[in-house]
Amino acid sequence: MTITARSDASGNPPGTGAPEGGSTAGAAPEAAAATAAAADHRIRDGRLVPEVIRAEFPILGTANAAGRPLVYLDSASTSQKPQAVIDAMDTYYREYNANVHRGIYEIGERATAAYEAARGKVARFINAPDAHEIVFTRNATEAINLVAYAWGRRNIGRGDVIVLTEMEHHANLVPWQLLVQEKDADLEFIPITDDGVLRLEVFEVLLRLKPKLVAFTHVSNTLGTINPVAEMTRLAHEAGALVLVDGAQAVPHVPVDVAAIGADFYVFSGHKMLGPTGSGALWGRRDLLEAMPPFLSGGEMIREVHLRRSDFNEIPWKFEAGTPDIAAEIGLGVAADYLAALGMGRVREHERELLEYALDVLQREVPSIELYGPMDPELRGGVIPFNLPGIHPHDVAQVLDRSGVAVRAGHHCTMPLHERLDLAATARASFNVYSTREDIDALASGLKEVERLFAG
Ligand SMILES: Cc1ncc(COP(=O)(O)O)c(C=O)c1O
Repeated sequence: MTITARSDASGNPPGTGAPEGGSTAGAAPEAAAATAAAADHRIRDGRLVPEVIRAEFPILGTANAAGRPLVYLDSASTSQKPQAVIDAMDTYYREYNANVHRGIYEIGERATAAYEAARGKVARFINAPDAHEIVFTRNATEAINLVAYAWGRRNIGRGDVIVLTEMEHHANLVPWQLLVQEKDADLEFIPITDDGVLRLEVFEVLLRLKPKLVAFTHVSNTLGTINPVAEMTRLAHEAGALVLVDGAQAVPHVPVDVAAIGADFYVFSGHKMLGPTGSGALWGRRDLLEAMPPFLSGGEMIREVHLRRSDFNEIPWKFEAGTPDIAAEIGLGVAADYLAALGMGRVREHERELLEYALDVLQREVPSIELYGPMDPELRGGVIPFNLPGIHPHDVAQVLDRSGVAVRAGHHCTMPLHERLDLAATARASFNVYSTREDIDALASGLKEVERLFAG
């Protein structure tokens, strides 16, 4: 997928084919989306108006114990939630709390309809060809584990190769480590350049090993690097490998079209895309999901149970054992609609502009700052890892917290990446639709305060 600076009338970058307003469609829905956007007070002159958007996130109106307003710059960890998502969960519990796929009574049927409607919204949001290919999971980690167990245990054998990258989140590393240890298979890694870009020429060499699977992140949670997922998928397929894309940091921030990317599995978490914790999804190709054995077993995933054997349900329910987090998945559907209404092209453009502003302001106002990752905003999402020389990132985060500025410090679940960059830890600022230039200014002045404190 290409990410470009300019977007079309619906807010999507030209040529991505990404759906707007959840529609995959032709001119009429596009025109309807453009009309809806024109009437939406959160969009002005084709751009997001973060001041208006912020008002829809109750937590952004709060302050810390010292009365300093919250400056939330840790959206890569988890995003804040708009009132619409909070209300959807609240309404479920207040008005139609019942289990799904069971109750032959009004609220049970309403709960089932809302839960399955959420699946449809999520499918449309990532342009999945079929809503049955969306398996609800608790998060991206669970979705990757599902594939590693259900597909991996059946298809990976002794001596087989799985290719990952040096920039993977532990969620897209540890499940594969366990699999290859169990099966006596091998892991190989696409290396990165010093500024955090994948070395595709080495990937092409690794593909000569004929890997069974290539799994990589769409957007790096630590460096922000946006990987050329469609091209990587094409190369992997030409070599006969299946492809899993970890979209945990992409689905909330850039237009994602799984049909255009062409991968075999695509995973993401709801809580990073304005949705509730406990929500997430695996998208998988229907034929692959159908051929895979169940992951977890028990209720809901069966068709018939006898004392000594059982027949399993159809996809996606075959993979949804037990009572799901109904309220959370309903909330996820609302979050997908919320982002679709803003337009993912506009979301990307907002965060790209903010990143450009931040890289400039931080280097100007805090000249000693060390920044990591690609410096070209076209190549990265709204994630800025940094260090102040001689000051531990935990100290940086703690001092910033006093002024209400929330950033993450540590290894961000990418210890091998930190090792590769020879860094013990970093501080990380990350954005979302509600982030503003004022947030960046607060970060810059907070960092100057950190420097003053540690100089004295
Ligand atoms: C790129 C990436 N993959 C996977 C995950 C795991 O997400 P979760 O903890 O929601 O399962 C994260 C979380 O930060 C991430 O950034």
